[in-house]
Amino acid sequence: MLPTIEEAKKELEIASKLNPGPWIKHSLNVGIAAKNIAQKVPDLDETKAYIVGMLHDIGRRVGIVSIPKHVYEGYVYSMKKGWDEVARICMTHSYPLMQDEFTYIPETEEEKIIKEYISTCQADDYDRLIQICDALATDYGFVILEKRFVDVTRRYGIMETYIKGWDITFHNKEYFEEKMDCPIYDVLPGIGKTTLLCPPPWKPGQSK
Ligand SMILES: [Fe+2]
Repeated sequence: MLPTIEEAKKELEIASKLNPGPWIKHSLNVGIAAKNIAQKVPDLDETKAYIVGMLHDIGRRVGIVSIPKHVYEGYVYSMKKGWDEVARICMTHSYPLMQDEFTYIPETEEEKIIKEYISTCQADDYDRLIQICDALATDYGFVILEKRFVDVTRRYGIMETYIKGWDITFHNKEYFEEKMDCPIYDVLPGIGKTTLLCPPPWKPGQSK
């Protein structure tokens, strides 16, 4: 089950008051990227893509939290609302390697639950779509994958699995481009300009 587009936008509006930050505009842009790509892919529903794209980070409504914490919170919140299709994307969007992400023993309760969920989950095209859109959308617009990977790595540091994740994301780019019959960057408005922008990294406490 899914919320409507209007309900999804309303959720982000509420969340922007609970935890303001660039993640709200990022979420809206992930939704736009997902919708535009899905429009070109036979068998993908552009409305579903738009909604799950907008809400993939909804776990951030609880505050500034770690990657596993926002994944888990998004899952719990969406399940409470009855939006199982959103809940799934909340779980999968940060783990392009799926089962192979968890080469370590999880320490927190949230990570244990995420690992268990992902271990029974086979990535589908919506999982792949939001994983790649997450890497294409910033708060200030769309950027090429290489740029986003460097930005995120500067923020969180690097682990070996990140590079494997980049490889999967580049592979998924080709996968969707074959289905779209055009480059992904062709459907992301303004990417030529925004990819050249270098705004200073956002710091907690700033409102946008
Ligand atoms: Fe995201």
